[in-house]
Amino acid sequence: MEEKVISKKVEYDMYQPSEMANLMKAMYAYNLQIKNQITAGETTVSMPLDLMQLHSAEMSSGKGRTPAWNSFVNVFIESQNAVTDTLSNIELKERFNSAINNCLGCHKTECVGPIPKIKKLLIQ
Ligand code: HEC
Repeated sequence: MEEKVISKKVEYDMYQPSEMANLMKAMYAYNLQIKNQITAGETTVSMPLDLMQLHSAEMSSGKGRTPAWNSFVNVFIESQNAVTDTLSNIELKERFNSAINNCLGCHKTECVGPIPKIKKLLIQ
């Protein structure tokens, strides 16, 4: 029997997410985990991500740090850090939703695609 070597044309996905896209994905995954902890009644949370990378991460081509981006980024970082502030008098759920609303605030002008996904993070 003759052996045939079939050469398959493999199509590789050449899409390379930007540093910023990867950071955003990690922020999404982190907040999903936090949401699950909060809804389970757990309060111990920590922030493993370096949010200062928002200021330096390379963005996808065509995207950049616009005035709208600059007006949202620090407000967001502050509100995201407030989620793990154990000394805060504000209810954890309220602090969490406020961070997510700041994700949405920036996304409304800077990157509308993920908005439905981000909205699902809000705790009702
Ligand atoms: C200051 C503005 C800003 C804030 C705040 C922000 N984002 Fe983004 N987000 C962007 C921009 C701009 C992109 C596109 C980045 C790129 O393509 O390089 C993006 C991309 C994303 C993506 C798509 C990543 C992919 O797969 O390509 C997700 C998901 C996302 N953000 C979730 C979030 C979540 C969750 C938060 C809050 C925890 C958040 N973002 C906060 C501006 C922001």
